[in-house]
Amino acid sequence: MADKKDLDFTYTTIDQIFRLSMGETGDYSGAKYDGDFSMTLEEAQKAKHKFIADSLLIKKGSKVLDMACGWAPFTRYIVKERGASSIGLTLSRGQAEACQKNGFNVVVKDCRNVKPEDFGTFDAITCIGGLEHFCSVEEWQEGKQEKVYGDFFRTLSELLPSGKRFYMQTMTFSKNMIPFNELDLNAGKESTAYIMALMVKQFPGSWLPYGPEMVISSSQPYFKLISQSSGRLDYIETIAQWRKKFRKFNLKKYWLYFSLIPRYFTDKEFRHLVAIFKLSPNRVCFENEVMDHYRLVFERI
Ligand SMILES: C[S@@+](CC[C@H](N)C(=O)[O-])C[C@H]1O[C@@H](n2cnc3c(N)ncnc32)[C@H](O)[C@@H]1O
Repeated sequence: MADKKDLDFTYTTIDQIFRLSMGETGDYSGAKYDGDFSMTLEEAQKAKHKFIADSLLIKKGSKVLDMACGWAPFTRYIVKERGASSIGLTLSRGQAEACQKNGFNVVVKDCRNVKPEDFGTFDAITCIGGLEHFCSVEEWQEGKQEKVYGDFFRTLSELLPSGKRFYMQTMTFSKNMIPFNELDLNAGKESTAYIMALMVKQFPGSWLPYGPEMVISSSQPYFKLISQSSGRLDYIETIAQWRKKFRKFNLKKYWLYFSLIPRYFTDKEFRHLVAIFKLSPNRVCFENEVMDHYRLVFERI
């Protein structure tokens, strides 16, 4: 699994730049356009929040656990617009500090190890864009991927009483994924071999499930699937909008970009991160159906 160090690399490194680009509580996961790309990114993210809150039957007074909460966009929505209470969990120190500064109940804690003794049980749980980080390349190579997901659903089953719901959205590998041994940072810049090798650099400690079926079968015997939909095309649009926002001029943000230049020349891993921002490998993977993206609603049996 990706540990705190990995997630600080992916998220804390860009903390200030992200917030200056997307807002203090910006979403860092696929929005829900449902194919209507006349919507703004903000409208599509709000449509996602509404869909999740409605699917999980979240109302005033609901107690919600927002696993892998990022900069707390969903927490903000359910607290401010639904009157729910929320605990958010992240493994990125920068995200947690920003969320706390903004008044949200967010702590640094591995959501895969939460026990009822920690916070009690919940009326609803979300994990929006977190599962991608739960299984490492090494765990997958050792044949442990299904066990990692199965253990996670067992943890969830202890936190949710019967009839309560869990929402997850996650990237998955899709039909054009290539064998792991073909991944190559020296391959042609357009190739899946190069793009996927960059993805592994962007998300250290992280490997994706092979299709939604792998996730759904891991949820049994604790959960039944209520709904499933692909957000692949919506994610391509989300990333296009992110790219515009990351580039939009803001003096403080551009100063931060400039201040990172020395690191560019001294830190090879960081150079890969910059290549990622230029290229958006996940967008290319969605376009080429190397990856897909799923929204899954489950109910505790
Ligand atoms: C792609 S971001 C999604 C953030 C947020 N849910 C959103 O939609 O904007 C992934 C998040 O997963 C968190 N994460 C990954 N593995 C985690 C773990 N084991 N425990 C808690 N948080 C984790 C990261 O810290 C980060 O906040």
